Amino acid sequence: MEWKDIAAVGEIPDGGMMKVDVGDREIALAKVGQGIYAFGDRCPHMNGPLHEGKIENGCVVCPLHKARFELATGKRVSDPRIPIPRVLKAGALMAGVRTHDLETYAVKQENGRVLVNLERRKP
Ligand code: FES
Repeated sequence: MEWKDIAAVGEIPDGGMMKVDVGDREIALAKVGQGIYAFGDRCPHMNGPLHEGKIENGCVVCPLHKARFELATGKRVSDPRIPIPRVLKAGALMAGVRTHDLETYAVKQENGRVLVNLERRKP
């Protein structure tokens, strides 16, 4: 099990997110209260940059089509919301658009630093 030191706890905004490039991976870090969560920064739907989204009710909300994923588990909570072009049907959303769960990583804090285990991905 290899832990990588990727950020200072104080760098992550309270109630917000930041992105860290670790090798060829883009990792998003989110801080909610005392908890820090790590997950792949690219949305499994169409690669939206999740660190530019919002945190709501323990979920990260994708900035592009508003899919939601639980911070703690990466579980998909709601699917993308893609509007149907207005000329076809005003205000309607495309039905049946699905996405997958998000890759998450184990995190620990030591001496004010954030350590992430990139080998141990949670389902
Ligand atoms: S890219 Fe994230 S919901 Fe579409």
